Amino acid sequence: MLSQKTHRQLLALDELDAAEIHGLLATAVALKGQKLKLAEGQMLGLLFTKPSTRTRVSFEVAMAQLGGQSLYLSAEATHLSRGESLAHTARVLGRYLDVIAMRTHAHEDVELMAEESGIPVVNALTERFHPMQVLADLLTVQTAKGALEDLTYAYVGDGNNMANTWVLAQAGLGLDLRIATPPGFAPDPAVLDRPVVKSHPPMLCEDPLAAVSGADVVITDTWVSMGMEEEATVRRTLFAPYQVNAALMSHAAKGAIFLHCLPAHLGEEVTEEVLEGPQSAVWDEAENRLHVQKAWLATVLGGVS
Ligand code: CP
Ligand code: NVA
Repeated sequence: MLSQKTHRQLLALDELDAAEIHGLLATAVALKGQKLKLAEGQMLGLLFTKPSTRTRVSFEVAMAQLGGQSLYLSAEATHLSRGESLAHTARVLGRYLDVIAMRTHAHEDVELMAEESGIPVVNALTERFHPMQVLADLLTVQTAKGALEDLTYAYVGDGNNMANTWVLAQAGLGLDLRIATPPGFAPDPAVLDRPVVKSHPPMLCEDPLAAVSGADVVITDTWVSMGMEEEATVRRTLFAPYQVNAALMSHAAKGAIFLHCLPAHLGEEVTEEVLEGPQSAVWDEAENRLHVQKAWLATVLGGVS
């Protein structure tokens, strides 16, 4: 069940407490395959300054399954590209739309959108967080393992928006998460400093083996996030020891699953053998974007609790 506060926005996962996360996952399961007109006549705007396959399509399909409609707004095609301020854009969009999913670089921009638009805003990825992705990841784990608790989670690679979001998820849910990153690439210190994280911190290390040994869930993400392309060459060298391959997976628990938000870069952060192997849950994970986003939209627009 989402509280009134979270009806307004979902920008970072610490806006949801454990009961709300469990409630959203339960709603996702309940609505899977259902086409109830919970958002009939309502319009979702997707304001994106970065490319997307999964997020855009799963939000549009979710909205259609709820009887609503979507409008994709590439930021370049709006007056944002000619200098109209985000605040003015937000105030105008808030007069037309019922809900906004925004994908952009600075996290502060989705916060400004939420403040100025006056309508519910969901973070569709910023450089700091990717909450809908981690909700989909949690649904994938819950489905594969029966529950989220009593498992060991290992995140290997870049301490990026995915790692930061997993930090908030493990803190809120009390999970056992180990994160292995190269020196200097740990998750955002400001995220690690949040009170909820300080009272339940992840185990941080630089050794991928230490993180993955005995883990039930092994997670990675690209080494070169959108907007970091100029650092690609140096990152590929620095991150090479953090590749999730069969040798690393052999140290995980029996029956461990592998998660990757996609798109994957085969031969970089993950080998084809692992991504296409029997432990990979990445296609269910991608599908689950649809189910968790539909649940969130149904809650915010359709009053489902
Ligand atoms: N995982 C994810 O957010 O994918 P897209 O960039 O394709 O939306
Ligand atoms: N960390 C990646 C996730 C892509 C879905 C990025 O921000 O590009």
